[in-house]
Amino acid sequence: MGINRILVIGAGTMGRQIAMSAALAGYTTTLNDISEAALAAAHEDLEQWAATRVAKGKMEQQTADAALERLASTTDLDASARHADLVIEAAVEKLEIKRSIFGKLGKVAPVHAVLATNSSTLASSQVAAATGRPGQVCNMHFFNPALVMKCVEVVRNEHTTDTTVNTVMEVARRMGKEPVLVQREIPGFIANRMMGAIQREALELLSGGVASIKDIDTTARTALGHPMGPFELMDLVGLDVIDFIAQATHAETGADADKPHELVMQKVAEGRLGRKTGSGFYDY
Ligand code: 3HC
Repeated sequence: MGINRILVIGAGTMGRQIAMSAALAGYTTTLNDISEAALAAAHEDLEQWAATRVAKGKMEQQTADAALERLASTTDLDASARHADLVIEAAVEKLEIKRSIFGKLGKVAPVHAVLATNSSTLASSQVAAATGRPGQVCNMHFFNPALVMKCVEVVRNEHTTDTTVNTVMEVARRMGKEPVLVQREIPGFIANRMMGAIQREALELLSGGVASIKDIDTTARTALGHPMGPFELMDLVGLDVIDFIAQATHAETGADADKPHELVMQKVAEGRLGRKTGSGFYDY
């Protein structure tokens, strides 16, 4: 199916970079948020990102300008959804909010529009019924930082049609990504399940007094070739997000292995959420 206009809902860390990836791929893109301030912050951040790319010689000024021009911002969800061929929802990870957004999209988005969620914890089957078109709904899960990471997990729910899957995969490819298909819904999909296992082990090594945060991270980089260690990565993703993923996964599986870790919960309680608050496992 031909996709020309993309609407991204939520101007947070993920939404803004997904929207910029779409604009850079040539799509007429709208970024929607309930907060004017969040939209302004997103725009400023993306302008800064583009200026740095240009200064580094990694992007032509013209390419940056054209992408920013293709990227509109609005607080008006109804108006922007009315013209969207593909919607990528990246709002807060709260089921009732997502359900209400998808319900609205089902009413106002064009009948052909594909409705995807970037959620890593809420499977699209939990919002699909609210749209009245569950076959056109799936997860389209990007990774942080979304302008850099190549993976996009496309997760089908039991109603998702092949056309929907193919459309979303094709859009991801046009964004320069390497999409993978998750054939059925499972908590954590592929990447967060593997990431969770590594993080759990790292937290156990630390709390068991086996090695320091720095040495565990160094080992992940120098022995396993990971671009960053598990503690650096948790700080990048945000410890509130890490804790939320664990809570959601554990609520669904009940497995001991999926239990949220005390060390992470403690940091969250202290408001030390990682890079975004200036401290987490490390100080920034
Ligand atoms: N936003 C945009 N671009 C960024 C960025 C950011 N926040 N951070 C780094 N970059 C860009 C840099 O500009 C640089 O671009 P260039 O090479 O073209 O100039 C490039 O990324 C490399 O950056 P650096 O040289 O500063 O640092 P690194 O080489 O260490 O790379 C990294 C940074 C890309 C973040 C790398 O360390 C990495 O891949 N880390 C692992 C990230 C990861 O695992 N993400 C998945 C998290 S899980 C998730 O998102 C799922 C969710 O559900 C929780």
